[in-house]
Amino acid sequence: MSSVSTPLSAELAAAVRLLQSGELVAFPTETVYGLGADAANPAAVARIFAAKGRPAGHPLIVHLPGAAYLEQWARDIPPSAWKLAQAFWPGPLTLILARAPAVPHAVTGGQETVGVRVPAHPLSLALLDAYAQAGGGRHGLCGVAAPSANRFGRVSPTEAAHVREELGGAVALVLDGGACAIGIESTILDLSRRGQPPRLLRPGRVTPGEIGRILGASPELPESMKAAGVPRVSGSLDGHYAPRTPTRLLAPDELIRAVEESLAQGKRCGLLLRGPLTPPPVHALHRLPDTPEAYARGLYAALRKLDQAGNDVLLVEAVPSAPDWAAVADRLRRAARGSGQKQ
Ligand code: TXA
Ligand code: MG
Repeated sequence: MSSVSTPLSAELAAAVRLLQSGELVAFPTETVYGLGADAANPAAVARIFAAKGRPAGHPLIVHLPGAAYLEQWARDIPPSAWKLAQAFWPGPLTLILARAPAVPHAVTGGQETVGVRVPAHPLSLALLDAYAQAGGGRHGLCGVAAPSANRFGRVSPTEAAHVREELGGAVALVLDGGACAIGIESTILDLSRRGQPPRLLRPGRVTPGEIGRILGASPELPESMKAAGVPRVSGSLDGHYAPRTPTRLLAPDELIRAVEESLAQGKRCGLLLRGPLTPPPVHALHRLPDTPEAYARGLYAALRKLDQAGNDVLLVEAVPSAPDWAAVADRLRRAARGSGQKQ
């Protein structure tokens, strides 16, 4: 052991021991709660898939204590990765890079790439630092594989209670760091395609514009972000982040009529609004602040609450198609698309 001057808190020490013995530990990040396991231990990673009910073949993000650990997990790291790490880590940006030979296939979903990020929540950083000081995981590699700590396809958790509710007994320990400040998952940027420009795979708080300012050129955008207008459904989008209650996205000027129609059909309506609309009385109403940051922070807790309120349908006021709303618009689109499945 190292000459650590600050004694680790008992809880962090327990979390480190659990990770080192192949158990699952849920922890807060600045985006959403993660379900963590030693990324170098295939059996531990398999437990993540079992707990989430996630099909194998879906790659996981490896969380690192700092950019200095990048070379344990990635190879052929381009200068752009170091620049972005310097600009945005710790923070909500995941980089997809060529994987180092030691990264188990269970983490990469059998691909030749790996997703890595340094999370910014003080408790996740403290956990990763403590893990590093204790020698990390298998083979001395120091990375915690962690998807969002929800059942596969469901709404991501932004509070410790959400994790306990959904994954309960499957997790050895849930570290409670309060509500997540950002509230939606990290931006994912693919830097693994040699000789080709970086490509945005998932929008998040770190925007293409911010990435472009660091790299000198904007990343390629996914088709869904190029399209104007919000509630367009793309056949290629999988249903993720989804409530069980059937969920519809509606432009503000269509919403009141849709509420009236649903009420006329005798349906219990849950409404998620952001603007000043005044709808008729409904079974449940939640109003989120009308700025992208504050809306994102409250979004998943609001969807969870409305989903649990016994509504027959959730009607969601669409958000503007402006670039600063793109990440929220992406999550709403997927929530609506994947909604209505009971299991
Ligand atoms: O904010 C976040 O990113 C949260 C927190 C816990 O860090 N994590 C998260 O993990 O959202 P998850 O597993 O729910 O979503 C990870 C996404 C998946 O869509 C996965 O396909 C993609 O990252 N991903 C991971 N590794 C990849 C790779 N090598 N190539 C392409 N996509 C990858
Ligand atoms: Mg997820």
